Amino acid sequence: MTPQADASKETGSLLMTRNGFLKTAAASAVALGAGGGASLLGPSAARAARPPTTTITSPLFIPQATSPASLTLAEAPAVADIGAGYSQVWAYNASFPGPTLVARRGDPATIRLVNGLQQETITHWHGMIVDYANDGAGFYTIPPGGTYDYSFTIDQRACLNFYHPHPDKLTGEQVNLGLAGAFIVRDDVEAGLGLPSGAREVPLLIRDAKLDSAGNLVYQTKTGGFDGDIPLVNGTRNPYHVVDGGVYRFRVVNGANARIFGLTLSDSRPFTLIGNDGGFLETQQELTRIDIAPGERLDLLVSFAGISPGEWVTLRDARSGWDLLLILVIAAGTGTVPTLALPPIAKLSNPVTTRTFSFDGMSKINGKSFDPNRIDFRVPFGTTELWRFVTGRNAPHPVHVHGASFQVQARTGGRGTVFPWEGGWKDTVLLEDRETVDALIRFDGFRGRYVIHCHKLEHEDMGMMSAFEVY
Ligand code: C2O
Ligand code: CU
Ligand code: CU
Repeated sequence: MTPQADASKETGSLLMTRNGFLKTAAASAVALGAGGGASLLGPSAARAARPPTTTITSPLFIPQATSPASLTLAEAPAVADIGAGYSQVWAYNASFPGPTLVARRGDPATIRLVNGLQQETITHWHGMIVDYANDGAGFYTIPPGGTYDYSFTIDQRACLNFYHPHPDKLTGEQVNLGLAGAFIVRDDVEAGLGLPSGAREVPLLIRDAKLDSAGNLVYQTKTGGFDGDIPLVNGTRNPYHVVDGGVYRFRVVNGANARIFGLTLSDSRPFTLIGNDGGFLETQQELTRIDIAPGERLDLLVSFAGISPGEWVTLRDARSGWDLLLILVIAAGTGTVPTLALPPIAKLSNPVTTRTFSFDGMSKINGKSFDPNRIDFRVPFGTTELWRFVTGRNAPHPVHVHGASFQVQARTGGRGTVFPWEGGWKDTVLLEDRETVDALIRFDGFRGRYVIHCHKLEHEDMGMMSAFEVY
């Protein structure tokens, strides 16, 4: 994937330096008879609901796509262009976010992690079904200067995963300062669907951030969860991305420490949801708003057909009111989202055991804080269980399980429903105050030790995590 390179071919002079964009876009709007000057939104822009509330200045960064075979990933301090300024960050291979790992089912991942930080670390491949030694879940870490060699075979459905550090008590800081990336798994089923690819497949890692007076990312812990002042998409502040009028595929990761995003498009344009954490859903759904919690992923198709060149659509967060990404249409195009023959999903059923996990306060599950040396429960391999997640308050608690995906069955209390984006295979599900969420789960990948935890990273770091063993 090299969308930026392709985009620059299509747009010619429109895609200039980050600082040059506004002027050029304004000139382009004039050329199109759309007005110009102070407002880019001229009379012809009837389909755009309103101008963006933020100053859009920087092209969306698209991390380089890389194979996970024979890969070295170094976690280290770096300086990143976050759009209209540079920030000190902690980054994988000096890329913020890290390179997008792309592999096919059956491919090997052989990754050497190098710790260039001044503190211990380990990296976890959130959503990958791997064994204990490759899961990087915080039972073990490497010291500054240390290395860790991962080696596993990718064997799961096509999906979008999320890699990030996972050292006990240090995850929130390391992720917040920039260590995170996307991990795309492909398979033959996906290839048969003919989905938008190349520049038409766009990874979007969405998070919030705080900057200090020098413009550097800062991490300030709060027990209620990190609460940033600005959004970053792929590490870019106030980003724009140019598209033509066709159909695009957006691969969305909520990479925030604690923030939930309520995604909408300006002009109420629908997203077609085709997948989530564990790959494709059985049935595509048109939605105008999707809520996504930390650690969750979405696979979305959007058609920009019928939008005139020079007009745009804005990806927004309905919760904060933030504009996340301005999508500028630079060529008229056609194409509607097709009806896809998405693959069936084998339904889990007939659980033999029910386990209840109470997310207590901000640091405990079932009354206990995490201890990597204590196994809280043991799960038989290959057996379907019903896991019930409950909480009274201090939510949101995005509940995440390592080692297997699950199927959400029901939500009672609180929001009282299972949302369309919670179908299929999930590994993270949002638990709000006074909710009970039931999920069926079966560990049929590997035996060994895993964790279940709150993916609000401040809660995780305070101990809202429990170790278990699949035997
Ligand atoms: Cu994304 Cu256990 O984490
Ligand atoms: Cu995980
Ligand atoms: Cu929590």
